[in-house]
Amino acid sequence: MRRAVLFGAGGGIGAALGQALAADPVYDEVWLGARSALPEPVSTHVRTFRFDSDDEPSLVAAAALIGGELDLVFIATGLLHREGLPSPEKSFRSLDPAAMAELYRVNAIGPAMIAKHFMPLLPRSRRAVFAVLSARVGSIGDNKLGGWHSYRAAKAALNMLTQNFAIELGRSHPQAVVAALHPGTVDTPLSRPFQRGLPDGQVQPVDTTAASLLGTLAQLTPDQSGGLYAWDGTRLPW
Ligand SMILES: NC(=O)c1ccc[n+]([C@@H]2O[C@H](COP(=O)([O-])OP(=O)(O)OC[C@H]3O[C@@H](n4cnc5c(N)ncnc54)[C@H](OP(=O)(O)O)[C@@H]3O)[C@@H](O)[C@H]2O)c1
Repeated sequence: MRRAVLFGAGGGIGAALGQALAADPVYDEVWLGARSALPEPVSTHVRTFRFDSDDEPSLVAAAALIGGELDLVFIATGLLHREGLPSPEKSFRSLDPAAMAELYRVNAIGPAMIAKHFMPLLPRSRRAVFAVLSARVGSIGDNKLGGWHSYRAAKAALNMLTQNFAIELGRSHPQAVVAALHPGTVDTPLSRPFQRGLPDGQVQPVDTTAASLLGTLAQLTPDQSGGLYAWDGTRLPW
């Protein structure tokens, strides 16, 4: 019995991941979780649940509902901008503590809380994957452009947590893979305000992105655990 759970199944990339997982014959049971836009289950082996990564009791309830061993835990939540928040900062002069805290909460603390309640469900005796959508802009080594201070810093924190969790989990789960993933620039509400001026072909559709991300995860081995990987499998610097 192979089981997968996806957090953020109502998002742009998350919805496509949910469809891809539901259609993947590898999984006998697929759980799709969302905060607001809960997807319609397309088949009886697909189940849905609500959660809010800011609300730890909702994660405790989800873990109790889903129970059992999970072969894949995939987190597709995240935040770059929303109505009511200042735009991603171009300068340190625009830093706003409340906006910064929200970006940290959604991009770093939320996934960490999901890890707290769902890494215990990974099996010790076979391969299992814990994956989270991060972003290339969270790579400190790759940062030549600056800007977007809060988002970049929150994703850098997420990348650090990924490596930390890989080390900790590796001690008890030698076959586990923990990975942060950069999906590329993908056509979703998150990237839409920033797509103008990008070269033709740089913005990828959600369905091919979902297929690439799952293909990349399928190739990763335990000795690669903890890294940041692009959709095409390239390892990126932290
Ligand atoms: N799109 C890109 O080009 C791109 C590039 C690099 C990295 N990424 C990363 O990829 C991930 C997915 O991005 P996307 O483009 O699919 O964005 P999206 O369409 O905005 O989806 C983000 C999802 O996160 C959910 N979410 C936010 N806060 C939450 C919370 N507290 N609890 C539960 N769910 C929460 C949102 O739920 P609601 O619908 O309820 O708000 C939404 O479904 C993000 O981590 C993003 O940083 C995306």
